[in-house]
Amino acid sequence: MSFPWAKHYEPKAPVMRWIDDKLPLPRFVYNAIGAGYPVPRNLSYFWNFGVLAGFCLVLQIVTGVIMAMHYAANTQVAFDSIEHTMRDVNWGWLMRYAHANGASAFFVVVYIHIFRGLFYGSYKAPREMIWLLGVVIFLLMMATAFMGYVLPWGQMSFWGAKVITGLFGAIPGVGEPLQVWLLGGFAPDNAALNRFFSLHFLLPFVIAGVVILHIWALHIPGSSNPTGVEVKSESDTVPFHPYYTAKDGFGLGVFLIIYFAFVFFAPNYLGHPDNYIPANPLSTPAHIVPEWYFWPFYAILRAFTADFILPAKLWGVLAMFSAILCWFFLPWLDKSPVRSGHYRPLFKWFFVVLVVDMLVLFWLGGAPAEEPYVMFSQIATAYYFLHFLVILPIVSMVEKPKPLPFSITESVLGSDEQAVLGDKPAAAS
Ligand code: HEM
Repeated sequence: MSFPWAKHYEPKAPVMRWIDDKLPLPRFVYNAIGAGYPVPRNLSYFWNFGVLAGFCLVLQIVTGVIMAMHYAANTQVAFDSIEHTMRDVNWGWLMRYAHANGASAFFVVVYIHIFRGLFYGSYKAPREMIWLLGVVIFLLMMATAFMGYVLPWGQMSFWGAKVITGLFGAIPGVGEPLQVWLLGGFAPDNAALNRFFSLHFLLPFVIAGVVILHIWALHIPGSSNPTGVEVKSESDTVPFHPYYTAKDGFGLGVFLIIYFAFVFFAPNYLGHPDNYIPANPLSTPAHIVPEWYFWPFYAILRAFTADFILPAKLWGVLAMFSAILCWFFLPWLDKSPVRSGHYRPLFKWFFVVLVVDMLVLFWLGGAPAEEPYVMFSQIATAYYFLHFLVILPIVSMVEKPKPLPFSITESVLGSDEQAVLGDKPAAAS
């Protein structure tokens, strides 16, 4: 949507006029993230997380490329090359800790970004494409993070790779040849490490490409907002710059304080100590656990314990992938005409239960695969699918939403002020 009141780019400096004339990149930036992009005036701090995710992606690429200069993708030396980076390379320890904790920070930010979307109905029309591309990004992030964790070739790297690639073996008929093809051998070894390194380097750039599409799709309808009511007039918006550059800048400052507290004072807090033991195919760790950000999906995978028509392992694999794939159908599963959870009295409570369910799955994914954790995982997994496939469609049809404000401005200033402001109505161009 380009609003008729959007400011137009007028370069003042002769050099900018010259560049804009030859390649209108400054104009593009001005209209995308500058004063030329009108944004709802009522965005809360939950709308900071998209920009923070973009920051994390850049951070991971920069620190990752530097680490790749010192890393050797060979099982004989991979572990030592990481230790060499940490101990001998100038600032290597910082690059390594910034990258490892950067992955965790990226997932924290993206989980909040996703749950913001779930509460405020950001996936609803006309923003379905933004959401669908977001789910693609999330899948790519998971693949990238999984392959990255294999690279240090510690105990958890090796056994994590073995368990996860072993899942493909559960597919009837083609499973085993597929697994061998993926690994380039019968177990994770040099061939697997090499291709994981290659893909781990490549995928962040693919993610960056999909992020560009994500933002492009966002600029067509423009951002939603906490009321879910669309922009109606000029007074509903403010220019992105300086209002949201300042707000995003503040959010980035807070983020960096927390992030650097981990990098400098607790750099290994989120990691597993076993990954400081070099990979040993002859010694299985007591508990094989992936990184914390995979835990909810790992809990779903392990919730299936009995063979029923298909082997339990295959049910687990199908459920784990379906837990994310069902997000693709969300824009059509939730039929409520109201976007924001603030005006949906029933939905709001089920959303809280979903968040609790997700936190329980987080806890269970990191717990040992024994009772009572397995039973809890089964209950939490059942609720997870019940929420998306049954509760959400039914609630969206039966619930009576609260009355919506007439406009964004009314929700901020009250209805009297709205009348005072001379408004230009919105129109698509
Ligand atoms: C690398 C990861 C990602 C980046 C850099 C990114 C970036 C952004 C940015 C900058 C915005 C606009 C600001 C905001 O609304 O916060 C946005 C909006 C949005 N993102 Fe993402 N995003 C990422 C991942 C995801 C994922 C995984 C999903 C969902 C599965 C998602 C769904 C959405 C939706 C629905 C909106 C529109 C929100 C609204 O206007 O209400 N994004 N994203």
